Amino acid sequence: MKQSNIRNFCIIAHVDHGKSTLADRFLETTRAVPERRMKEQYLDQMALERERGITIKMAPVRMTYGEYILNLIDTPGHSDFSYEVSRALQAVEGGILLVDGKQGIQAQTLSHFQTAKEAGLTIIPAINKVDLFASHGDLAAELDELRSEIAELTETSPDKVYLVSGKTGQGVEELLRAVVHSVPCPKETAGAGGAARALIFDSFYDNHQGIIASVRVFNGSFKEGQAVRFLASKSSCKAKEVGWFTPELRPAEAGLGEGDIGYIATGLKDPDAVLIGDTVTLAAPGAKANIPALPGYEKPQSRMFASLFPEDADGYEKLKTGLERLRLNDAALMTLDDRNELLGRGFRVGFLGQLHYEITTARLAEEFGAPTLRTFPSVAYRVKEGDVWQTVTAPEAMPLHPDLVEEPIVDVRIIAPPKYMRSVMALHEAFRGEDMRTETVGKNLHIRMRIPLAEVVENFEDRLKSVTEGFGSFSYTPSGYAPAGVVRTDVLVSGERVPGLSRVLPKEKAVREGRRLAETLKKTLPRAQYVQAIQITSAGEIIAREDVPALKKNVTSHLYGGDRTRKMKLWQKQKRGKKRLLERGGKLSAKVSKDLFSALR
Ligand code: GTP
Repeated sequence: MKQSNIRNFCIIAHVDHGKSTLADRFLETTRAVPERRMKEQYLDQMALERERGITIKMAPVRMTYGEYILNLIDTPGHSDFSYEVSRALQAVEGGILLVDGKQGIQAQTLSHFQTAKEAGLTIIPAINKVDLFASHGDLAAELDELRSEIAELTETSPDKVYLVSGKTGQGVEELLRAVVHSVPCPKETAGAGGAARALIFDSFYDNHQGIIASVRVFNGSFKEGQAVRFLASKSSCKAKEVGWFTPELRPAEAGLGEGDIGYIATGLKDPDAVLIGDTVTLAAPGAKANIPALPGYEKPQSRMFASLFPEDADGYEKLKTGLERLRLNDAALMTLDDRNELLGRGFRVGFLGQLHYEITTARLAEEFGAPTLRTFPSVAYRVKEGDVWQTVTAPEAMPLHPDLVEEPIVDVRIIAPPKYMRSVMALHEAFRGEDMRTETVGKNLHIRMRIPLAEVVENFEDRLKSVTEGFGSFSYTPSGYAPAGVVRTDVLVSGERVPGLSRVLPKEKAVREGRRLAETLKKTLPRAQYVQAIQITSAGEIIAREDVPALKKNVTSHLYGGDRTRKMKLWQKQKRGKKRLLERGGKLSAKVSKDLFSALR
């Protein structure tokens, strides 16, 4: 295929604005998938994606359209996956900026648009779901207004903002024609010095082929059987198979040429060997040794951490296998062995963010039969004691009285209708926001603020959705570290610290959260023969306490009449028994601690 006939593009959009549905229409229009096999959201193959209706993993597809080859990459919409999105954007020359006609421009529309602009992509703006705008006068005016708003953002004229419906197929052909005419064909990238280079923008695992790298070739070509090497991971292998996504994997006998998007099956089984953003090159004898990498590789950065333990006593192996399998498809998932005195063996896991954490734990339970008990999620704190700095990701490892703690900060962008201004301002205070700036753009307020990442991990997004009745949207980008007024809290039951229930909290929230936690735990802890004290400490000081009363057992109920001395004797015996129980039984049983962990979910 001539390079001038290739068009590489992606669809960028806020969550739920209809990328996957539009991609389905492209597949139909170009007949890439036979009609009888077409099902909704074809590119969202993962069971969980289909169930939740969100894109987690990108699925590229190569389509033939007249004499053109169109390579489409579908990208995940959430901020957690912004690095993956940025790599996908490096692999293409153009992007359809898709905006839901009813929702308008949202936070992730803007953040993806900016990343695409920085990557130098040609942007084709389009409004989706126009089937919802019948010929009704008011609605047509609303659509016109949005068209002008998007035209202003993308610096084009309103008639260049395409109107489509992924549902009915309206405008889909015109949009494909626009891709052919506006998106430039791939051009050779300078700086390779004659070497073959391809960018890995995704990877996934296949039982027979090992890890398969999704690549965009920038220089030279790659063929089956050639020895290839990866510049950042320094691993190498033989290309077991080289081909295209149709969207099924189809071997390309002539190999992948300059400008192509396709895959290289590596046969490798170590997820750290094939990294997103890494450069693949040929390792054949005679190939150049010092090849400059394609720009932009970054080591995956975990932003939040939690320990995962099997819910079932014999569930450790299942959890281990599940995590290993997930990691083969997801090198951003970091795992280390962990151990909890009560829950046994488990794993300390690093995630890209809250959604990544939720998806991973849901997949462990649903796909691998490994439901988990989890510690409180934590971010990575930088902690200074004396002259020594260390990174702390487990609350238990946080010193009780550190000299200085710094926490990661994110820049947050919120878009919401103006009537929710006050609610968003309240969130700004509740979530320790700083530097708030607001601006009215079209019908909406655009709000920028800096907040600690720990607050995003906590439940910022849920609260925003709730106070804006679902109309507020949000995206974030990491923005360095700042001093943090945080403190470690621990849970003590009958004087013993419960391992795994510690947290790092802002000082001003510690007492309130501590009381709430003590109340929750009181409802969960089963009564024993003796009074159990639940205490929450903050930096070692008790800040909340709840007592779980003892089981009342009337040991003298079988005694009738007035023999007081016999009753006294029995009461004394009961008291001694309780004391003995308390001495040896202060520790929680594994069953009880599981209940405590479960209660906090
Ligand atoms: P993420 O993968 O989560 O980012 O979502 P997405 O952008 O891929 O959106 P998806 O295609 O899953 O569509 C979201 C919802 O909008 C689904 O319920 C679709 O049925 C609906 N939808 C998509 N396109 C249209 C359209 O043109 N018209 C109407 N009425 N509904 C649509």
